[in-house]
Amino acid sequence: MGAPNNRTLKLGELEQAALASRLIRPGPLPGVEGLSDQLLCGDAIKLIPQLPAGIADLIIVDPPYNLSRTFGATEFRESSTDVYAVWIRTWLPGLRRLLKDDGSLYVCADWRCSGVIQRELESTFHIQNRITWEREKGRGAKANWKNASEDIWFCTADPDRYYFDLESVKLRRKVIAPYRKGGQPKDWEQTERGNFRRTHPSNLWTDLTVPFWSMAENTEHPTQKPEKLIAKLILASSAPGALVFDPFLGSGTTAVVARKLGRKFLGIDREESYLCLAAKRLALARVSPEIQGYSDGVFWERNSTPPAGRRDAEG
Ligand SMILES: C[S@@+](CC[C@H](N)C(=O)[O-])C[C@H]1O[C@@H](n2cnc3c(N)ncnc32)[C@H](O)[C@@H]1O
Repeated sequence: MGAPNNRTLKLGELEQAALASRLIRPGPLPGVEGLSDQLLCGDAIKLIPQLPAGIADLIIVDPPYNLSRTFGATEFRESSTDVYAVWIRTWLPGLRRLLKDDGSLYVCADWRCSGVIQRELESTFHIQNRITWEREKGRGAKANWKNASEDIWFCTADPDRYYFDLESVKLRRKVIAPYRKGGQPKDWEQTERGNFRRTHPSNLWTDLTVPFWSMAENTEHPTQKPEKLIAKLILASSAPGALVFDPFLGSGTTAVVARKLGRKFLGIDREESYLCLAAKRLALARVSPEIQGYSDGVFWERNSTPPAGRRDAEG
């Protein structure tokens, strides 16, 4: 028996069968309109070349890292950096054709594969930045530093012309030394909950919580990303109504956050069971569009007190 407040999303056999019938399978694919808000079950390496050119305003990629790990029925095997680079070349350059000329692409990585991913990105995209985010989870090492961070490479198709909505991702931080000018707060806001300032977001993110069993967004996918993290990428780099594509969708985080934020999505994964979780999360997103840690247009600091009536704002 799980803990009483374990909110991990699980599917029964009948529910999974019903959700599986909604997935698009390999075969002749529909056009752009028919691919909007869809989940494609199949091999991304085969499907990417079949998708329409320029379909995506934003692409978010969370590939298997260069580690041995089982995803559903398939095992991904750790290999040499050279072999991993060859594997990246089977899908990464193809993403440029799918991305609009003013579009952006983000690629997730851990410290081991970040360098090779950077090298491969350089030949196809313009790298704008590397975001590093703190992941609190993870075991300590006996003779090494505990691994507690991951990277996200931010790239664009064009070096200068791309969408970026800075205002939507500004951070709300507590003011330590509330400076006043003429008796009035200087660039900060006085509220009942304390004094806050909206600051420019940096490429170091320390406000995220990796999904765990008491969070509503948690599923049994082994490497699920936090909705709050994906929300930052989508808000900054896509306009409302834009299409966000994710070729390694897993449990559906990119699609779910796209829906919650009024964007369209297209996702691929070759594991049917993960796409069924995604389909279930997408249905739930229609009734519960909250994103843990983001409410009222504000990204709250990790474990900050949620605003009244917002149980899910912590995180
Ligand atoms: C790191 S996980 C993505 C997790 C996802 N961001 C989430 O929040 O749930 C990578 C996913 O890629 C899928 N995958 C690996 N190789 C694939 C391929 N060739 N085609 C499609 N999906 C693949 C795996 O099944 C796995 O779910």
